[in-house]
Amino acid sequence: MTTDSILRNQTVLVVGGGSGIGAAVAREAMRRGAQVVVAGRHLERLERIGVGAHAVVLDVTDEAGMQAALARIGHIDHLVVTAAAAVGSPRIAEADLATARAAFDVKFWGTLRLVQLVLPHLAETGSITLTTGVLARKFVPGGFIRSTLNAALEAFVKNLAKEIAPRRANAVSPGVTATEAYASMSAAEREAMFQRTARVLPAGRVGTATDLAQAYVLAMENEFMTGIVIDVEGGALL
Ligand SMILES: NC(=O)c1ccc[n+]([C@@H]2O[C@H](COP(=O)([O-])OP(=O)(O)OC[C@H]3O[C@@H](n4cnc5c(N)ncnc54)[C@H](OP(=O)(O)O)[C@@H]3O)[C@@H](O)[C@H]2O)c1
Repeated sequence: MTTDSILRNQTVLVVGGGSGIGAAVAREAMRRGAQVVVAGRHLERLERIGVGAHAVVLDVTDEAGMQAALARIGHIDHLVVTAAAAVGSPRIAEADLATARAAFDVKFWGTLRLVQLVLPHLAETGSITLTTGVLARKFVPGGFIRSTLNAALEAFVKNLAKEIAPRRANAVSPGVTATEAYASMSAAEREAMFQRTARVLPAGRVGTATDLAQAYVLAMENEFMTGIVIDVEGGALL
């Protein structure tokens, strides 16, 4: 365990912590001595990550459920949000708006309501770290739902940083990262996509959940950092 972190004995709530990047953040925060609470919709998924974190069922689209869960958790030093729904890649001309709305309901409106409900519980020295994504500032056919969603969150986190000061708010923006987010693809399709992506990235590989988790830890630990978006994308924006 790393013992000199400011996270030691602090409560870190990771919403979306049952898999992927959120689970890696939970692991890194545990290693620094934090009291970690992982939250998501499926208890068995949260318990399966097996890092010794406390598991709480919470759906960011269920306001009453969130209020009850937060009342049970109580004081929070740092909130990390990695929760998001799976989003397809429709083009603008053909997109079913219900699909786009569902994505915003979870990742944008769900995050916003979660933040509102967490603020009364958040320490005066606390922080909030949200998750955006490389498509907020990179534009590809079929990417408009993720572009608009993540760009909205990037604007939101800057407003949030101004309004909740001296508490801090930042975001981490992942590029392609090998996580359960791609579980609906076959293993062969997924591997081919990762290899195609790796070939065009300056870093020469796709990201790992641990690459990303290190950025969330930085956002929580660095007390002079607020209102920024940390890009961890292997050079995709160059
Ligand atoms: N992986 C990438 O390549 C990539 C690239 C750019 C951006 N991102 C962003 O990074 C973040 C984390 O993604 P990931 O790769 O770690 O994917 P992931 O493993 O699928 O994680 C998403 C988590 O969100 C939870 N979740 C979904 N709906 C929820 C809801 N309504 N309420 C509460 N929790 C909910 C899921 O758990 P339950 O289903 O059990 O609730 C899951 O644990 C997302 O915001 C994603 O958009 C990822």
